[in-house]
Amino acid sequence: MIVSRCRRCGVNRAEVYLAHSNLSLCPECFTLLTERRVRHTIESHKMISRDDRLGVAVSGGKDSSSLAYILHNLYEKLDMVLIYVDLGVPEYSSHCLKKVETLAKMLGRELVVYSLERELGFTIGDVRGTIYGKKPCSACGTIKRYLFNKIAYDLGLTKIATGHNLDDTVEALFNFYIEGNVKSLVRLRPYLPKTHPKIVPKIKPLIGLTDIECYYYAEYKGLPIRALECQFSKGSRSVRRKELLNTIVEKIPSFKHTFINSHYKRILPLLEQALKSQGQGEETEIYDCPICGMPTSLKGMPCHFCKIVNMIKGKVEVKVS
Ligand code: FES
Ligand code: ZN
Repeated sequence: MIVSRCRRCGVNRAEVYLAHSNLSLCPECFTLLTERRVRHTIESHKMISRDDRLGVAVSGGKDSSSLAYILHNLYEKLDMVLIYVDLGVPEYSSHCLKKVETLAKMLGRELVVYSLERELGFTIGDVRGTIYGKKPCSACGTIKRYLFNKIAYDLGLTKIATGHNLDDTVEALFNFYIEGNVKSLVRLRPYLPKTHPKIVPKIKPLIGLTDIECYYYAEYKGLPIRALECQFSKGSRSVRRKELLNTIVEKIPSFKHTFINSHYKRILPLLEQALKSQGQGEETEIYDCPICGMPTSLKGMPCHFCKIVNMIKGKVEVKVS
């Protein structure tokens, strides 16, 4: 049997093959290089500064758990808390909560848990049967984005880090290209700075790592990660798009890396120019939601979060006005 050696150290047995860069690595070299790549992403986008108070959005999944672990290792002295939003998905949410509690203990970091049911009196399942049909996933995205920002703002945090990786980003970009959604294409970035006093800047340090790299990293570091999938996300459009993109990667291993590099280096500057020349700069007007007072792009109307809450009000007793 031929045992291939790690391309980096030349000593240990290679266990991970990174097809996009044609590299076979041992677990030690793989985890080290992964951390270096994340550090490189953070530094090249100036995502973190020493005096930041960082909130890490955790879900119990491989991406956000790897993110919290890597950030903790790279920036030991950084003021950092983990934030978990419990959406009340039967079985799944409590399973994930246990994982993030174990992770927080492992890192010795504070964990802030926000329960939708406890705080607002409804769960994500209550969104079904409204205009969202049977799949609450897009409402779930809106609720999580709103709550992570609100929690971070209320806690006085200066940034929120999320576990969005390369696969998530390529899937979202691919969708926006197909829809011709230029504004969203321009807005999707590794670092979203502050554009309003109540908007906490967002960073995506894992944007250069693939799903499988995050999975291997979490496995090799022995991180507590969930063994269940959300029952609502099965067969969702984003999952199907990801599967489709993976079939391209089987034929062209560097496809996702090339896609994202072309977008950020070549296409995005042109899109920005085009929008500016049409007088539609990237900055959208921001208004205060008349219900919750948080920022929204909707003039004189409730924000997307308050709209969802209003929809559910007729179904269950919601705890907000
Ligand atoms: Fe959001 Fe399943 S975690 S719908
Ligand atoms: Zn609102």
